[in-house]
Amino acid sequence: MDRILNILIVDDESSQRTGLAGMVKAWGMNAETASDGSDALEKLEKFQADVIVTDLNMPHMDGYGLLKALREQGDMPPTIVLTGYGNVETALRTVHEMGAYWFIEKPIQPSMLQALLRRAAAHSGLRNEKKVLERQLQYKGSLGEMVGNSPRMQEIFSLLQQAGPSKACVLISGESGTGKELVARTLHVLSPRRQGPFVAINCAALPETLIESELFGHEKGSFTGASERRAGCFEVAQHGTILLDEIGEMPMLTQAKLLRILEDSKVRRLGGKTEFEVDVRVVAATNKVPDDAVKGGFLREDLFYRLNVFHIHLPPLRERKDDILEIAEALIVDLNRKHDTRVSDLVPEVLEAFQRHNWPGNIRELRNVLERAVIITGEGSIPLKNLPVTFQPQNAAVAAPAMPDAPPSAGDDSLHVPIGTTVEQAEKGLILRTLEFTKNNKTRAAEILGISLKTLHNKLKEYGRDTP
Ligand SMILES: Nc1ncnc2c1ncn2[C@@H]1O[C@H](COP(=O)(O)OP(=O)(O)OP(=O)(O)O)[C@@H](O)[C@H]1O
Ligand SMILES: [Mg+2]
Repeated sequence: MDRILNILIVDDESSQRTGLAGMVKAWGMNAETASDGSDALEKLEKFQADVIVTDLNMPHMDGYGLLKALREQGDMPPTIVLTGYGNVETALRTVHEMGAYWFIEKPIQPSMLQALLRRAAAHSGLRNEKKVLERQLQYKGSLGEMVGNSPRMQEIFSLLQQAGPSKACVLISGESGTGKELVARTLHVLSPRRQGPFVAINCAALPETLIESELFGHEKGSFTGASERRAGCFEVAQHGTILLDEIGEMPMLTQAKLLRILEDSKVRRLGGKTEFEVDVRVVAATNKVPDDAVKGGFLREDLFYRLNVFHIHLPPLRERKDDILEIAEALIVDLNRKHDTRVSDLVPEVLEAFQRHNWPGNIRELRNVLERAVIITGEGSIPLKNLPVTFQPQNAAVAAPAMPDAPPSAGDDSLHVPIGTTVEQAEKGLILRTLEFTKNNKTRAAEILGISLKTLHNKLKEYGRDTP
């Protein structure tokens, strides 16, 4: 448990080897080196690698040979392949055919390698996930799939570590897209139940009439349409974890039944005569402020106290902008794997635009923006132009058209003209926006616009807006 991540670096060039090892050590990980595939296999007898980073072309046993041998041994740590520029086809083959985790092109970009190592370690899930997670925490910045270096995320990581191993209920709150489901999954993985099922049920997505049958199951004939006996989520999640998503949307009566189950761990199917014991850890999530949900009558107060043994609140992304770069890097690694692309990073202007943005959709929005950008970019750094129009600086440039007589900005004197707008549309937008600004004072609007009052009237007639 005191160990930190072990990285084995395999390269026949000694300067490359030691350079990489130094870098990895600077990130707080252990590094061991080997000069070719057979040397690596030998080292692995004593060195328990969490991730292997290997060159492809080496004398004696090359990278392919190493991958093949590891696969035959059946216990292959996630392996990152180093490839020379332009050898992407080959590199992709090692991923698709030989089971490599992913590849990275030389010259190696440190931030990319760091993000890859972290993701690879998180993905080594089946190999002793909990140990890996604990080790990850020692160099901070990530917990499983969750990334974030901001003090608030660090607090959340330590809460997760305290709450994870127990069977205690956890109430997770946060705006949409802040990572509530990811937190629930991480709790599951950190618990002794991680081999058991993780079942998520969205209370908002189910009609009231079905929610109880979904949760508790039903016997044949217990209601019209119940033609078969069916197990509920609590049964399906036996020895695992259940996430009750949007708990504030659960009907009050169902909340009362849920409370009873939490008290005595017994479930009765709808129409069933007997109760049976369930061993399920319950985690609930809500995008409301829990206190407000109680006050507003959406969440029973007694249930709230029962669920709120641990409370994890996820701050919106706009309140932890320090995390954007790290999360973006981690998302790029995942998206590269998903789309077979090889995007390396973001140009600084993209990061600046990200820092300025308010992120109403939080991390899900960031992921969507990046997914589009990764697909369009394909390889190399994501340029600003591959972001959606709202991130483009042109918006800001056109945003404040020259209005010499306008009072100093009160925040409502701007106009967004995205690329793709015709001159005619832009003119119309500007005229109508200026009228709004002058509270429909046409004389003043014409002055600001630098046109005659008559021209303004003519334009408004064209738009069908010329009200006397
Ligand atoms: N800290 C994080 N690091 C990396 N990825 C994250 C992090 N938090 C969230 N994500 C990713 O962001 C996306 C949205 O997360 P998730 O579905 O958990 O949000 P949510 O709060 O449940 O949203 P909703 O309220 O809309 O259901 C997912 O793809 C998730 O993997
Ligand atoms: Mg969710």
